[in-house]
Amino acid sequence: MKQNNISFSFKEFDKAEDLDAEDRELLAAAQKATANSYSPYSGFSVGAALRLESGRIVTGTNVENAAFPSGICAERNAISNAVSNHPGDKPVALAIAAFSGSSHTSEPVAPCGNCRQVIAEEENRNGISIRIILGGSSKIRIIGKGADLLPLQFNSESLRITPR
Ligand code: THU
Repeated sequence: MKQNNISFSFKEFDKAEDLDAEDRELLAAAQKATANSYSPYSGFSVGAALRLESGRIVTGTNVENAAFPSGICAERNAISNAVSNHPGDKPVALAIAAFSGSSHTSEPVAPCGNCRQVIAEEENRNGISIRIILGGSSKIRIIGKGADLLPLQFNSESLRITPR
């Protein structure tokens, strides 16, 4: 038997002004994207902004549906937007923000499990890390790479098994 341990460290800031200019810009784009959310069922508007290698920023928001599982998260919409419209321009950073009630959430919102899986696929196929910026109005977290949020992944390597 072997006892293993997985840990990761991340940065935490009190306010957006403490971020560097590029991260601040990306977080502002994610906050702005919450305004486009179609979320009548949850009332929870999420915005995601991806910075691509070229410097371009593409955004996504959550789009809900009366058939609840047909709804899709902001992060996956941002990634689909980037892949569909800017193929080859690899995402290097992702900022996420949420708006609920009458204000942006004070706590940072983290990507759901489905979105972590999709972020991991982008990192793996492109061979680069995506910095994750989780922005609340009273706390901001910066995580070095999506893989930190999804240890022990199921990925394309997992499919390389001997067929029976
Ligand atoms: N949602 C996102 O868009 N991203 C997240 O990281 C968490 C959840 C959306 C899905 C749904 O439309 C609403 O937020 C409430 O779960």
